[in-house]
Amino acid sequence: MSASVAAADPRATRSAIEALAPWFHNLHLPDGEQTAPNHPLGDFTSFKWRQIAPHVPDDLDGLQVLDIGCNAGFYSFQLAARGARVTAIDIDPHYLAQARWASRRFGLEDRIEFRCMQLYDLARERSQFDLVWFMGVPTCGIRCSRSTSCAAAPAACCCCRPWPCRARRWPLHRRTSRWRNAIACWRRDGRRWPSSRNG
Ligand SMILES: C[S@@+](CC[C@H](N)C(=O)[O-])C[C@H]1O[C@@H](n2cnc3c(N)ncnc32)[C@H](O)[C@@H]1O
Repeated sequence: MSASVAAADPRATRSAIEALAPWFHNLHLPDGEQTAPNHPLGDFTSFKWRQIAPHVPDDLDGLQVLDIGCNAGFYSFQLAARGARVTAIDIDPHYLAQARWASRRFGLEDRIEFRCMQLYDLARERSQFDLVWFMGVPTCGIRCSRSTSCAAAPAACCCCRPWPCRARRWPLHRRTSRWRNAIACWRRDGRRWPSSRNG
């Protein structure tokens, strides 16, 4: 993701990062600062994204994306940088404060709407989304899949589920890899999401 805003005073950036701590997402900010450089999982957002990115179209212009459990916004920023309009929800206002701050640092605040919201409330959501991004959120599978597959009515889902789920009738939870954190991108019609790099 390219830096789209002018470099800020590094001391001001560092003190803002400290004021917003603790961080789960290690964001690489445009001025070179990182939000969690000593994260116990390492720079996991970066290496996960390197695996996922080739499966996501480069051009998401005009697509409406829902990022469930957005945390500090790492994936929302990647998707917005590819042109998507993102609705990013999280249950925790602490993480949303980080995400709002970071979105301004990336110059993406106009492309992302952050909402403090419980995933299960999506069952009452009227909006429709082209892509639902659903990564690493602890859930009750059947309830969350009904919320995301039915209410949000996505055309495609990218789901990384860390826990087994019995909700097999919903494609959101189809496993496509033996890797425990399987990445699955597919459309509501069952076809793989078309990728500009993977065909
Ligand atoms: C392990 S983090 C994953 C963050 C990000 N999706 C990722 O893959 O890096 C889980 C996030 O989901 C949020 N979360 C947990 N339960 C939630 C719920 N029921 N509704 C909305 N957000 C939730 C947490 O606050 C946290 O930010």
